[in-house]
Amino acid sequence: MIPVTKTFFPPIEEYNAYLHRIWESGWITNRGELVIELENKLKHYLHTNNIIAITNATIALQIAINAIGKTGDIITTPFSYIATSSSIIWQKCHAVFVDIESDYLTIDVALIEEKITSNTVAILATHVFGNPCDVDALKLMAARHNIVLIYDAAHCFGVRYKGESIFNFGDISICSFHGTKIFHTGEGGAIFAKMKIYRHYFMICIILAMTDIMHTQDWGAMER
Ligand SMILES: Cc1ncc(COP(=O)(O)O)c(C=O)c1O
Repeated sequence: MIPVTKTFFPPIEEYNAYLHRIWESGWITNRGELVIELENKLKHYLHTNNIIAITNATIALQIAINAIGKTGDIITTPFSYIATSSSIIWQKCHAVFVDIESDYLTIDVALIEEKITSNTVAILATHVFGNPCDVDALKLMAARHNIVLIYDAAHCFGVRYKGESIFNFGDISICSFHGTKIFHTGEGGAIFAKMKIYRHYFMICIILAMTDIMHTQDWGAMER
């Protein structure tokens, strides 16, 4: 049998060396030194400055949708992992499905426009199995209708489109670092956004919307 995915395990000594660092620091949660180190290494490796490490890609999808700031219809495709659609429902939005195209198995952009109404707030498209969506056409479509463009890039670690990291496309992209993925942390993920306002919002979300030790702001969750 050829496994579709096989989890990579580093030599246990390497893993233990990281555990020692955690023990020495006395800091095991809340964006500790190793999380910041990982973000910095990934910024360099992936050529993107916009990364925020997060608990997993499902949570990343949920806060990406929450960041839209309103509920409504989100155009997507069911040919993805269940988390893509369930995040839409979890955030009290409505999933409007369109079919995929047959070459790359990604959302068929030609079918999107007829589904856009005044209720549409976003497109959530998956780069399936590392195949980039038609990002140029989707960018135009989202801009024409003034809606948010989110990419589920869970399968896309290291993928580039026209020389640029795939995570730099759309308003927001998410990636999974689950044990079944190309790069993994056991459980984990990342969220990417060029716009500072989104990154600021995500940082607030991942620490329970706390602005300081005594105060919270807006909606927050335990997503660090
Ligand atoms: C396309 C897609 N989106 C989202 C997810 C969810 O990722 P996670 O397990 O990190 O929450 C997966 C996981 O398999 C996935 O394949």
